[in-house]
Amino acid sequence: MSAQRVLVVGAGGREHALVRALRRSPSAPEVLAAPGNAGIARDGVRCLEIGAEDVEAIVAAARAEGVDFVVVGPEAPLVAGAVDALAEAGIAAFGPSAEAARIEGSKAYSKELMKAVGVPTAAHVMLRSHEEAREHLACASYPTVLKADVLAAGKGVIIAANEREAREAVEMFFVDKRFGATEVVLEEHLDGEEVSLLALCDGERAVPMAPAQDYKRIFDGDRGPNTGGMGSYSPVPGVDAELAEELARTVHQPIVDELARRGNPFHGVLYAGLMMTPAGPKVLEYNARFGDPETQAVLPRLRSDLLELLEASATPGGLAGKTLEWAPDWAVTLVHASRGYPESSSKGDVIAGLDEADAMDGVEVFHAGTAEAGGDVVTAGGRVLAVTALGTTPGAARDLAYAASEKIGFDGRQLRSDIASRAVERVEA
Ligand code: AMP
Ligand code: GLY
Repeated sequence: MSAQRVLVVGAGGREHALVRALRRSPSAPEVLAAPGNAGIARDGVRCLEIGAEDVEAIVAAARAEGVDFVVVGPEAPLVAGAVDALAEAGIAAFGPSAEAARIEGSKAYSKELMKAVGVPTAAHVMLRSHEEAREHLACASYPTVLKADVLAAGKGVIIAANEREAREAVEMFFVDKRFGATEVVLEEHLDGEEVSLLALCDGERAVPMAPAQDYKRIFDGDRGPNTGGMGSYSPVPGVDAELAEELARTVHQPIVDELARRGNPFHGVLYAGLMMTPAGPKVLEYNARFGDPETQAVLPRLRSDLLELLEASATPGGLAGKTLEWAPDWAVTLVHASRGYPESSSKGDVIAGLDEADAMDGVEVFHAGTAEAGGDVVTAGGRVLAVTALGTTPGAARDLAYAASEKIGFDGRQLRSDIASRAVERVEA
């Protein structure tokens, strides 16, 4: 018997997509959100005024509201032990324990794990001080990659073309303490196409979801700084169900086995960021949660009961015999960001056209950084919203996503114009 009252923790577009997919469950659960966002509230979901990182308040609210299942979206509460605290209070939850979530929380730890089980990844060294960094930069080969060893939502990664850029980056990390990290990973630069492959895990096995591709850079043509993600699409040409299964066997399952062996079974979603290099797939990073904006492209295609799958993931061995059914459609997701993102964001700009876009057939509008202000919906963050469209071809999905996005407008909007063009070209060729 599925949970009747489900609480989704988080405030982003990912959580809006989770809320909508959970409400499509045949068991028709009541869904609450903490803290949710303006779009989730406009869907008629009760939003609790609790910070997504306030573990104590999440547990207290889940108890007070008689919630029988909690779905934790973002990494911060997972790393802070939200699922452990809920378990202690006797409340079932989707997501890894704090110990298992370290795979995302510490790049040094995740590199150690990959090495222990032989998952292919970029060669790296840990830099523990500015002096140590400068020594290594003198003999590194370029381009090279520098990553702050903190949770930085994909923003603490610098691809340095030469030693001068690398020196500027380590100065930003160690002297300006831009991301608050005390350690930095210096990593071999990998070439190839990126694929995000998420797998549901029940502590024993990893079941792959549909693959997606994320656009990390702020500007068209993959230029400018890294962001949390400016768009995505699913599936990915060249990564069919068979390859996804094989990738899950080689990059997810060994980690699930090793964490179980170490006594920290991984429950939840294990997200592998992969680079498909000429020498084969290599792991760029693991995350311990759903991707954003990958989730906004993947979940609208899911035909299986999401609530049942998430509950099965929370149960040891619960995914045995479960399969995931996907609509044959393509999904394209466009992120609308506010002026200044990713360095800053602008607030309070009125957003027009939301309802008109959301009402279009095959289109969903997911809110992220939005707020209600005097009857209007206004911008309230860097990534403001995401528009997902479904279509029978990548081109149809993309054209519909851009047509729906044209109906939406706000001052200073940043919207890439080339999302999914690679998939469109490939499939049309
Ligand atoms: P991460 O947070 O580690 O996934 O890094 C964010 C983004 O930086 C990735 O999605 C890639 O676009 C890029 N990146 C990270 N590591 C590498 C690497 N070793 N080689 C090339 N690009 C990378
Ligand atoms: N889209 C990248 C992430 O969720 O980390």
